[in-house]
Amino acid sequence: MDLILKIWRQKGSNDKGQMVEYNVTDISEHMSFLEMMDVLNEQLVAKDEEPVAFDHDCREGICGMCSMYINGEAHGPDRGITTCQLHMRTFNDGDTITIEPFRANAFPVIKDLVVDRMAFERIQQAGGFISVNTSGNTQDANAIPISKHAADEAMDAATCIGCGACVASCKNSSAMLFVSAKVSQYALLPQGQVEATDRVLNMVKQMDEESFGNCTNTGACEVECPKGISLENIARMNREYLVASLKG
Ligand code: SF4
Ligand code: FES
Repeated sequence: MDLILKIWRQKGSNDKGQMVEYNVTDISEHMSFLEMMDVLNEQLVAKDEEPVAFDHDCREGICGMCSMYINGEAHGPDRGITTCQLHMRTFNDGDTITIEPFRANAFPVIKDLVVDRMAFERIQQAGGFISVNTSGNTQDANAIPISKHAADEAMDAATCIGCGACVASCKNSSAMLFVSAKVSQYALLPQGQVEATDRVLNMVKQMDEESFGNCTNTGACEVECPKGISLENIARMNREYLVASLKG
């Protein structure tokens, strides 16, 4: 396939940035989207041009790094996948594809398609953990009874890979789906109860300080989330927050 790519180029965080058009040739339908970007960069380097900076690591849907807004959708047109899992057979020979970074005030562009998602890390640091006694008297986690339903729901919430597609898809740049998944994975388990009150209060406080917007129940985040994180987690986080506020 031969394609026309319209890509956001931005030299650094203070640069204005602009869309630049490229022609890329010899793309196999079996390539992943990131492999197509590799081919483009090889062709740019061969012409002594600056390659396009983009984030990636695992290339198998686990790390959440490959943040790209493709033809107006986070991670492109398919559902339930990340950009690295998107295949070029989704597109046709001669297509024009628009590629932009994930945009949000809390995700400033570092270069081209690379954005700074440290805001998510700071929210995690505010409460996305449990403290475990490692003195040798620790109770084996497998000895603590947990209902199948709670274990399944906690596992579903824990599949959030922190990619930021929920924020990029939301008209308010809200991080509620991400934060609620991180709160829920502990709120559903006995191990998460000890710090439950502080966790939800501190994570929501940090989320607000990072200039993410509020949730207005549009649901775009759930549609674009590559891991199918449910809006039910936001409802659970709101309940947790209310209870914690009353206690606090
Ligand atoms: S909730 Fe979904 S879209 Fe948001 S960070 Fe987690 S995996 Fe990505
Ligand atoms: S590169 Fe890790 S999820 Fe895409």
